[in-house]
Amino acid sequence: MPAALPILRSAKQMLDWSRRERAAGRSIGFVPTMGALHRGPLSLVQRARRENDRVVASIFVNPIQFAPGEDFESYPRDLAADRAVLRASRCDVAFVPARASLFPHGFQTVVTVPGLSAPLCGRFRPGHFEGVATIVAKLLHIVEPDRLYLGQKDYQQSLVISRMIRDLDLPVRLVTAPTVREEDGLAMSSRNRYLSPEDRRRAAGIQRALQAGARAVRRGLTSPARVRALVRAALKGIGRVQYVEVLDARDLTAPRRLQGPTVLAAAVFVGRARLIDNVVVKA
Ligand code: PAF
Repeated sequence: MPAALPILRSAKQMLDWSRRERAAGRSIGFVPTMGALHRGPLSLVQRARRENDRVVASIFVNPIQFAPGEDFESYPRDLAADRAVLRASRCDVAFVPARASLFPHGFQTVVTVPGLSAPLCGRFRPGHFEGVATIVAKLLHIVEPDRLYLGQKDYQQSLVISRMIRDLDLPVRLVTAPTVREEDGLAMSSRNRYLSPEDRRRAAGIQRALQAGARAVRRGLTSPARVRALVRAALKGIGRVQYVEVLDARDLTAPRRLQGPTVLAAAVFVGRARLIDNVVVKA
């Protein structure tokens, strides 16, 4: 049996490990996660494996990116299972810090990327992207990777982190990898486990609705309002729609007419799961 995946608990242990690897000339790929791993983050680990000499994954359910009333307490946690699948994906080490070690008493510094954090999920999850940017900035300082891997499913998150990396001159390259999907198109997500079998069947319609909008854009529809309406109509019967937006994919601004890279994004409550997905298309 292969040895269990090494787990590092303190920032100092993690930084020492990374510095030893880099001093030996080895590159490091880093996949930050909140655990409850599925094929989405594992595909990032596999890609990091192909592109780097060493791969680090972090597992930390970040309290400061959950708004009051969200699922922080009930967010699925299963370190033993995560450790096994990370090992099978040939990750080298997992960084699993305790909450108090990352957010000690008196912690108050935050990283904000206001413009990109405002639309889409930012409208409904106050403080979410500030929490994400802050934890990712901290993790980048602790892991010091060459490459950071994020999934396109969290499109807005990727743009926020990309902006932060540029604005703060962080010495890391962001790799945003395609969304991993179930056979019927549902984007993989830790929250899919909240779905009943009936909800699970309906949830696949989110991607189909976004694809219907994308087809209309490809055929030449340039009115964001009409594309939004088309996607909303296609989402009927799937769940409670929180938002459907059609924005400039580069900076998440709302164009009067679609032109160039365009992101169609939606958030839908299906049963008790809040699911997000997106499609990027050229208008
Ligand atoms: O995408 C996630 O799982 C989280 O937002 C991240 C990047 C691990 C930060 O907590």
